[in-house]
Amino acid sequence: MDYCKGKLTKLLVDYFETDFRRITHALEVLKHAERLMEQTPDCDHELMIAVALLHDVGIKPSEERLGYNNGKTQEEYGPPVAEQLLGSSGFPQEKIRMACEIIGNHHSPSRYGYVELKLLKEADRIVNLLEAGKTCGDMTSGAPAESDLTGKQ
Ligand SMILES: [Fe+2]
Repeated sequence: MDYCKGKLTKLLVDYFETDFRRITHALEVLKHAERLMEQTPDCDHELMIAVALLHDVGIKPSEERLGYNNGKTQEEYGPPVAEQLLGSSGFPQEKIRMACEIIGNHHSPSRYGYVELKLLKEADRIVNLLEAGKTCGDMTSGAPAESDLTGKQ
């Protein structure tokens, strides 16, 4: 039995404590990432779960230190937090570096060819659209419109 998802979800919840908005966002991103993974056989599930759940951990130190967060500060502050959290959980060392690169690049043009980075960006965008109350495919099933995945309008 693989406890990766449970372990990483506990890390997420312990880290964000009562910031339920961030916790819910991360769980929703994981849900969409898992659906996208089914169509992407070369995706590393363990890495995908880690980056989906922890992609926004940079928000907390950014807001504490700067009083705000944006894509750039999330990318700057997220990787050191993710490295510490994943390291403390016994996550495979070789995947921690990849997770940090993905988290440090999820709001800007891709500098890496990781399929997990591509899926994270898609899942995050879908959830951000849904949270903004915009139409995104079939809202009842959670399935995004093809145009939402391709960027075509
Ligand atoms: Fe996000």
